Amino acid sequence: MDCFTSGLVNYVAIPAALLYLAKYLWKVYFDSSKDASVNLPLPPGTYGWPIIGNTINFIIRSKKGNYYKEMYDTYGPVYKTHLFGKPMVRVCGEKMVANLLNNDYDNFQKSWMKTVQDLLGPFALTNSPVQFHKDKRRIFMHAFAPNALEEHCSQIKRIVKRDMSDWTKVHQINTHTAIDKMAYHAVCEVLLGVPQNIIDLPQFQSDFKDYVAAFFGLPINLPNTVFGKGLRARESMRKMLRPHIREIISNSVNKDSTSSGLRFILSAHEDQKHEVTETEIFDSVMEILFTAHITVVSSLTSLVMFLGQNPKILEKVRQEIDDLGIKDLSSDFNYKKLQELTYLSDVIKETLRLAPPAGAVVRQTHKTIQVGNYQIPKGWLIACGIGDVHDNDDRWSETDRAKFNPDRWRNLEKTTARYGYIPYGLGPRLCAGRAYVDVFQRILAVGITKDYDYELVNPNPNIKRFPVYHPEDLLPTRYYKRD
Ligand code: HEM
Repeated sequence: MDCFTSGLVNYVAIPAALLYLAKYLWKVYFDSSKDASVNLPLPPGTYGWPIIGNTINFIIRSKKGNYYKEMYDTYGPVYKTHLFGKPMVRVCGEKMVANLLNNDYDNFQKSWMKTVQDLLGPFALTNSPVQFHKDKRRIFMHAFAPNALEEHCSQIKRIVKRDMSDWTKVHQINTHTAIDKMAYHAVCEVLLGVPQNIIDLPQFQSDFKDYVAAFFGLPINLPNTVFGKGLRARESMRKMLRPHIREIISNSVNKDSTSSGLRFILSAHEDQKHEVTETEIFDSVMEILFTAHITVVSSLTSLVMFLGQNPKILEKVRQEIDDLGIKDLSSDFNYKKLQELTYLSDVIKETLRLAPPAGAVVRQTHKTIQVGNYQIPKGWLIACGIGDVHDNDDRWSETDRAKFNPDRWRNLEKTTARYGYIPYGLGPRLCAGRAYVDVFQRILAVGITKDYDYELVNPNPNIKRFPVYHPEDLLPTRYYKRD
């Protein structure tokens, strides 16, 4: 054997063979978790490589295209993969997803995976086990009761008006970045009621960025991993928010005139004579920060994008707002009045159908369950794909499905219950903050139709779906004040 051949064997062939052996053993290991008492096969698919599974492949392919679509095309509506440190089965069929989530409490103990459990904390609503979830949710929902929404409406109106006035000061602005800032102000001021002076804003924003990134990485807690940095950012934010949390716990009975979502939650605790700890409140704060930011930014940016791409639809929205007597963001309108905008409702619905911000609802099984003709063993993750359900909704033809057409909702016969549209999830853990998002979307719609005109610099941007749906170029836009 010459030097070149022996080098090839030592440095290429043997490591490659060992790698493939490891991959095979990795597969054997997970296949052995199949429940022998259930006479059904595991779904088709692949567990990827040892330890990392398909996570790296997923991140790379999601940047270029749509990993889930490729998997769906290869394996069908139920397939296995290995992501974020666990075997996971992706379920895409509308009926199967509805069946799983409508029976959520039966099928699953609590939602989500390790990254989410550690980053949100045990007292977050999302992490609450079945026996505590219902009561906790009732308390949490006080932040979105009609009286709370009335208050949120006037606060959001003030923030949108204030922030949008900066959008015309420059020649063009990235709408996604501008909305990111605006939504962040809204979370802090409206939902958390954090006075700007108690936090070091640049530090808080940088921590928040690390914190959010950690939800979408491998759950490996080392100093330089994405997850490790996220956990440290959580601690840093805890230190900054501690004085505010202590202050609201001690003063929550004397609500001030502008109540934040957090104060509504605290008063609900008091009404139920339930003492809350600092940790419980901190977990709720982190949950609100995480759930109410990136999804809201995504949905508001998409609204600006779709209306910018469809001037006739934008004109109809403007007309409807006008007909209701809303002149601009300075007009005296409230939450109740905004609900009368029915065409705008359809526009918002269509936006969330085509561009659902949350990719999937993820659960962990606590017993072996059947999905289609397959078994999902105990302890595995199940991800119900939201975009997949929307993309395969057969109420419309395949070509029609891809079009932005708000009128489809008006013309739809409401005969049978269908689950083809689930941007906020389904069942007992349906999104708790959807009414807040809806108010925000409506107020922004007033701003972009009545206070400002705008043009998209690049009307057809490349779309990224990871970690949430967003235009790759962040939607550069020119805004002009209307007379
Ligand atoms: C367009 C924006 C939003 C979208 C698309 C969205 C989507 C979702 C989805 C799909 C779920 C279900 C997750 C699951 O079943 O595991 C969920 C749950 C949740 N969302 Fe949202 N969300 C949005 C905005 C918000 C906002 C603004 C809040 C405000 C705090 C919020 C708070 C929550 C909470 C607390 C849960 C957990 C509910 C529970 O476990 O009972 N979301 N959201």
